[in-house]
Amino acid sequence: MKNIVVLVSGGGTNLQALIDAQKAGNIKNGRITCVISSNPDAYALIRARENEISTRVIARKEYFDIKGYSKAIKDALIEEKADLVVFAGFMSILDEQVANAFPMKMINVHPALIPSFCGKGFYGLHVHEAALKSGVKLTGATVHFVTEVCDGGPVILQKAVEILYGDTPEILQKRVMEQAEWDILPRAVSLFCEDRIFIENGIAYIK
Ligand code: GAR
Repeated sequence: MKNIVVLVSGGGTNLQALIDAQKAGNIKNGRITCVISSNPDAYALIRARENEISTRVIARKEYFDIKGYSKAIKDALIEEKADLVVFAGFMSILDEQVANAFPMKMINVHPALIPSFCGKGFYGLHVHEAALKSGVKLTGATVHFVTEVCDGGPVILQKAVEILYGDTPEILQKRVMEQAEWDILPRAVSLFCEDRIFIENGIAYIK
């Protein structure tokens, strides 16, 4: 059974999707053992506590720079004996020391079809604002491995979502979450825990 540690910063609807999948028996060979938040007021912490999952707050504002913050997160992940680290709406940037300590053991859900609308500055509603501004008709979500390159690691799963006339960033965000993120994140987590993801020449494949 793999230990899954989930990193959060906000509402935690993706964490909730993982909790629901776990309860339904859809996360094979893994269980959520700890939720770590960069924000002491994140609603995600309440979701975890309501489900008797242990929580830790490592507040970004208490650290002077990315290096010190990354070390604190890395040390906590080692203490928690994480086999898989899931970035589920985690909004703080970490440096390469975390990716190096957990190579191909960390996955992130991003609210667009990478390589579109990703990288530095593309997070939360900003991603959907950019998609709407560009005029594309399809967007979606991506689950990918986390490497030292922001949103640059191997893609595991993607799902497309239509953009409709009259969409606002908030409406689009909700549709992308409902139709894509909450579906592909638990699926990718289970595939990882079942050892069904392998990497060849930098590309992720599913057995
Ligand atoms: C989600 O849409 C997630 O994909 C996005 O923030 C939202 C968090 O919602 N993450 C990023 O933009 C990270 N680059 P949640 O807290 O309800 O899961």
